[in-house]
Amino acid sequence: MKGIVLAGGRGTRLYPMTLAASKQILPLYDKPMVYYPLSVLLLAGIRDILIISTPEDLPSYRRLLGDGQRLGVRFSYCVQERPAGLAQAFLLAKSFLDSSPVCLILGDNFFYGANLSLMLGQAAEQNPGATIFGYPVKDPGEFGVVEFAPDGTVLSLEEKPARPRSNFAVPGLYFYDGDVVSIAEGIEPSPRGELEITAVNERYRRLGRLRAERMGRGMAWLDTGTPQGMLSAAQYVEAMQSRQGMYIACLEEIAWRRGFITLDQLRQLGRELEMTDYGQYILALAEETDEHR
Ligand code: DAU
Repeated sequence: MKGIVLAGGRGTRLYPMTLAASKQILPLYDKPMVYYPLSVLLLAGIRDILIISTPEDLPSYRRLLGDGQRLGVRFSYCVQERPAGLAQAFLLAKSFLDSSPVCLILGDNFFYGANLSLMLGQAAEQNPGATIFGYPVKDPGEFGVVEFAPDGTVLSLEEKPARPRSNFAVPGLYFYDGDVVSIAEGIEPSPRGELEITAVNERYRRLGRLRAERMGRGMAWLDTGTPQGMLSAAQYVEAMQSRQGMYIACLEEIAWRRGFITLDQLRQLGRELEMTDYGQYILALAEETDEHR
């Protein structure tokens, strides 16, 4: 399975923060925002990842992430000239995907919680078909909304409905089989002029190939779309990390735990950042493991 991080858009709701910098590269507490969705792809075991962003911002992502070799993964890059909708990602990624199944995650979506890895692993294995998630929120009308039948199948999907049929929002994390490009090629722009991801999901639903999994109370899906949302998410990361002494979205740690890099490589990555708490955390992981050998 391949992965796509969609990290374009203008970030207008965060102006002036995003006048000269990409939203998904802004810090969320101690790391760039894009580390969090990337950590989700790595946890899902995905090592071949395409990063899509604007012509102005793509060079920053290349500088930040490089070719991925240091993490034992492969990062590729692709420009989205203008934000024409989330489903455009599949058209832009056609040759990268080459008919393989894919997980798409939005570069500003934050997930953390018990059973996340398990949930990701199960979704990645469901093939053919598509898997989306339903997450209970107070204000579903701001999102894609999924309505479940009593047996758990999907009754309806709507994008930002004025009168939501359920309180389950669809987070920006989607798994598709190898048909997603041809399905995305068949959809028309919505009245707001965008190729909607909800239209792709609706196609899968009509084909009887859409699954939706509920994310429960144990999962955090946080909003980073406003200054308040960013601050709350940053405070959440700070609180969890200081309490548990374990980092959220430390890409080096995940790459090592997933077996993408060796313990020696992990130690080297820690040394490169040893002037920071983040680097010290990586070094401590490497040392503890050595002691327990
Ligand atoms: O966050 C989950 C929601 O994301 C879903 O519930 C909705 O169904 C889905 O349409 C989307 O809604 P948003 O209104 O949040 O989408 P927005 O246009 O804000 O774009 C989400 C992110 O994707 C944002 O960081 C910018 C980036 N983006 C967006 C578009 C339309 C791109 O990189 N390219 C694009 O063309």
